[in-house]
Amino acid sequence: MTQTYDVSAYGRAIADVYDSTVAEASTESAVKRLHALAQGSPVLEFGIGTGRLALPLAARGLTVAGIDGSAEMVEVLRAKPGGDRIPVTMGDFAATRVEGEFGLVVLAINTIFALPSQEAQIACFGNAAAHLRPGGRFVVEAWVPDLAAFHNGTALRVLSLSEDGVLAEAARLSPAEQVMYTTKVRMTSGGLRLLPANHRYAWPSELDLMARLAGMEREHRWADWSGAPFTDDSRAHVSVYRL
Ligand SMILES: C[S@@+](CC[C@H](N)C(=O)[O-])C[C@H]1O[C@@H](n2cnc3c(N)ncnc32)[C@H](O)[C@@H]1O
Repeated sequence: MTQTYDVSAYGRAIADVYDSTVAEASTESAVKRLHALAQGSPVLEFGIGTGRLALPLAARGLTVAGIDGSAEMVEVLRAKPGGDRIPVTMGDFAATRVEGEFGLVVLAINTIFALPSQEAQIACFGNAAAHLRPGGRFVVEAWVPDLAAFHNGTALRVLSLSEDGVLAEAARLSPAEQVMYTTKVRMTSGGLRLLPANHRYAWPSELDLMARLAGMEREHRWADWSGAPFTDDSRAHVSVYRL
C-alpha cells in the first residue's frame, strides 16, 4: 500500500493540548504497571511524546529513553520538570535505532496503528525486539477494532464530556485498506480544535503474529493497565510480548 506518511504530522496538530485529551486515571495505572514490568531495567518508549508516561517512570527511578517523530511533542516534554534529562532520538520508531539494551520497550495509546501499513508495523515489532535484552518485554496498548460501531462507513462518538468541554471523534472506515480515518473535535469555551489521526488498525491476533515474526511470545493480554481480564467485551488491550 502506498500512502504518504509524515511521522511529525500527528504531533504538529495536537502537541499543545495533547495532555488534556488523556484521562489521568489511565496514566497512573499505566505507570504503575510499566514500572512493575520493567523490574528496574532501562525503558525505551516508542512515541514518547510529551512524556506523559516517561516522566513519572523516570521519577520512580527508572532510566528512560525515547523515540519520537514530532519536535512539537518533544518540546512539551522538554518544558516539564525533568524533561531535559530524558534522551530522545528524533525519527520513525519503526526503523530508528537507539544505543543501549533495554528491559522494556513501550508503545502506548494505539500508536502502533499510526504506522500506515502491515509492513511498517512488522518492522516496528522487529525494531522493538532489536532493542531488547534476552527476556525483555515489548508492551503494546491498542484498541480492538469495533466495526459494528460504523453505519454506512462512518461513526461519531463522544469520548469525554464535562462542563468545561466536549471531546468527540468522527471516523470513516476503509475496510479494504484496514484503515480508519479519524478527526477528534475538541470543543471548549476557548473555541474548537480539529485533531486528525489515521489508523492502520489490526486485531490483537495480527499483532501476536507480528510479535512471533520478531521472535517474541505473548506473555500477557489484559483489557487495561489495571490487569483486568481480556474478554469478549473488551474494547482495548494491553499486550505484553517477551523476547
Ligand atoms: C498518542 S501520542 C502518545 C504519546 C505518549 N506515548 C503517551 O502515551 O502519552 C503518539 C506519539 O507518537 C509519535 N509518533 C507517531 N508515529 C510515529 C512514528 N512513526 N515514529 C515516531 N514517533 C511517532 C507522535 O509524534 C506522538 O508523540
